[in-house]
Amino acid sequence: MSVQIIVAYTVPKLADYSERELDEAVAHFRLALKTESSEIDLKVCDPALTPAVRQDLLRKFRDRWLGRKSGLFGHLNDLWLKNAPPDRKKHVGQLINEVKQTDLPQIEQLVKERDLIARQSSDAIRSLQVFDDVTTESVDITLPGARRPIGAEHPILKTSREIVGVFQKLGYSVAEGPVVETDYYNFEALNFPPNHPARDTQDTLFIAGQGAKPQRERLLLRTHTSPVQIRTMEKMRPPIRIVIPGVVHRNDPPDASHSPMFNQIEGLAVDTNITFGDLKGTLDYAMKALFGSSVKTHFRPSFFPFTEPSAELYVTCFICGGSGKRGSDPCRPCKQTGWIEVLGCGMVDPNVFEFVKDNGYDPKRVSGFAFGMGTDRLALLKYGVDDLQLFFQGDVRFLEMFG
Ligand code: DAH
Repeated sequence: MSVQIIVAYTVPKLADYSERELDEAVAHFRLALKTESSEIDLKVCDPALTPAVRQDLLRKFRDRWLGRKSGLFGHLNDLWLKNAPPDRKKHVGQLINEVKQTDLPQIEQLVKERDLIARQSSDAIRSLQVFDDVTTESVDITLPGARRPIGAEHPILKTSREIVGVFQKLGYSVAEGPVVETDYYNFEALNFPPNHPARDTQDTLFIAGQGAKPQRERLLLRTHTSPVQIRTMEKMRPPIRIVIPGVVHRNDPPDASHSPMFNQIEGLAVDTNITFGDLKGTLDYAMKALFGSSVKTHFRPSFFPFTEPSAELYVTCFICGGSGKRGSDPCRPCKQTGWIEVLGCGMVDPNVFEFVKDNGYDPKRVSGFAFGMGTDRLALLKYGVDDLQLFFQGDVRFLEMFG
């Protein structure tokens, strides 16, 4: 005959501080907490017990887990952290904090809510349960059904579609490419040779463990959508006109105007006899379509390894109309200059065509222009949002404003 003895859970001392033992110990702690909170939940709502007994049970549960001196949450520090070897202390401390941050507030809330129920008379609890039974067991078909909230397009996606739409009307098609990219497409074929200083401007996030491969095959998170220029030219012969929306990553800490993950839209047109005049005309038209027919465009010389010549495109500030002022206040989005930088662009560098020469892109025969813009920044300006992070936090109250 086997006898099962059920012993109440206690926080154990840890023999070794290996990852496996810690994981198991945390899982065990959480399981005990979950089991005991469901048990107390049932008892507190049991009308067969008197309010005094129910309150007493709840108090015992609270003291056992949350008690100041001898609560099980407190034991985590006494038994795990204090005895941890010096090199594991930081890690164990973080683990305990994580457990406390996720589980403590829930238990405190449970005790608070159940305290109200424990105090009720048994009759009151019975009537609550009767009410519960009615609502769970019968259906009132005269009530309106449960409605799923209708979602809406995210403001960044909306901006992206709008920009892409302007170019589609001009005959551009849409191309896409991978977010995890090779060094070859992100840099080399875009005329950033190995060790070229222009690579430093891209704050690249590299995938670990790629050291054994030749440099051009090493993986990274693409820092721009420009690699898809090469990928598309490898697949399609000229003439081509494409726009490329997509996610890119850079090692930029998040703040009101930066994010390690953001979106770009790239453009590329290649044909015979494409000139800088075509670039200017196309982008001037697109900016007017996007920001209104009264905006003016302005090109300033710049540098990108894959275009020559290169330029930055500015439009007159569509917030202040180019005056640099809003009433008597300075206009912040354009820093009072009256101009806003919207994208980088230029004529495709012949060195780039060399990499896809065999697919019909002989630099002596074809020419083209390219451009790339930051979708998120344009969405910020368009909607007058002053913190980029709001776009990524998924707070429904913010997103509903765009529904
Ligand atoms: N890829 C550039 C960046 O992320 C932006 C860019 C500039 C794209 C000029 C282009 C271009 O296609 O022609 O900084």
